[in-house]
Amino acid sequence: MEVIIRPNADAAAALVARIIAKELRANPHLVLGLATGRTMESVYRLLAQMHRKEGLDFSLCSTFNLDEYVGLAPGDPHSYRHCMNEHLFQRVNVEPRNTHLPNGQAPDLDAECRSYEAAIAKFGGIDLQLLGIGRAGHIGFNEPLSAFKSRTRVKALAPLTLEQNAEFFGGADKVPRRAITMGVGTILESRRCLLLATGEEKAEIIAKAVEGPITSMISATALQLHARCTVVVDEAAASRLEGSEYYRRIFATEPEWEEFRNSN
Ligand code: GLP
Repeated sequence: MEVIIRPNADAAAALVARIIAKELRANPHLVLGLATGRTMESVYRLLAQMHRKEGLDFSLCSTFNLDEYVGLAPGDPHSYRHCMNEHLFQRVNVEPRNTHLPNGQAPDLDAECRSYEAAIAKFGGIDLQLLGIGRAGHIGFNEPLSAFKSRTRVKALAPLTLEQNAEFFGGADKVPRRAITMGVGTILESRRCLLLATGEEKAEIIAKAVEGPITSMISATALQLHARCTVVVDEAAASRLEGSEYYRRIFATEPEWEEFRNSN
């Protein structure tokens, strides 16, 4: 795992967008794993801007989102499908048929989960998986006690997650109780993971996820087992990390990061 600390949330999102853009330019057929949440909105805004201004081309890439609420129609303004259409898919030239999210309204949810896994495999697996982190430490909707070998499945949402997503639904009691989510095992199979977290409210969970013991109580700690995982944080989210001096030195001196150093 490597941790990159940027001065503020905008700079952290800009770095993530530039990493994605670099991977996409190197491999136009990129299979991109996507995430939702407030943190990702600025990344998608920047990618849309790169598409408009620099011709960043999404025409050959395909996408797989981490999760979707059970019971919401794709057109429901609270659904992750709607959110992805609004924030990214309608703003770039990705082929709509190459964008994938689990169908939260599938009549047979288990069959839907199996076919989602099969679709990822058919596309050759995920090259780059973008991740946020919930305050309970989940990646996707892999709530506490998610097995590290878990695959795409239906998961009951934890109380903290319901609370965290309450404002979108006008109260915790209105948040769907279940979601389909890629499993921790599914996420760990992607070739590269890129996690973005910003803001003071993420500082404690980032310290646990990055430097704490590996535990299924905090599914993000599974990323410590991944061979190529980059965690990008702003100063606020980095404030509880013990090794920040070392992480800063890596970004400041290692050749791999040279081209990214002068981004704001
Ligand atoms: C939801 C999503 C997660 C996301 C999290 C954090 O729970 N299922 O994938 O990481 O929200 O969201 P935010 O960026 O709004 O803090």
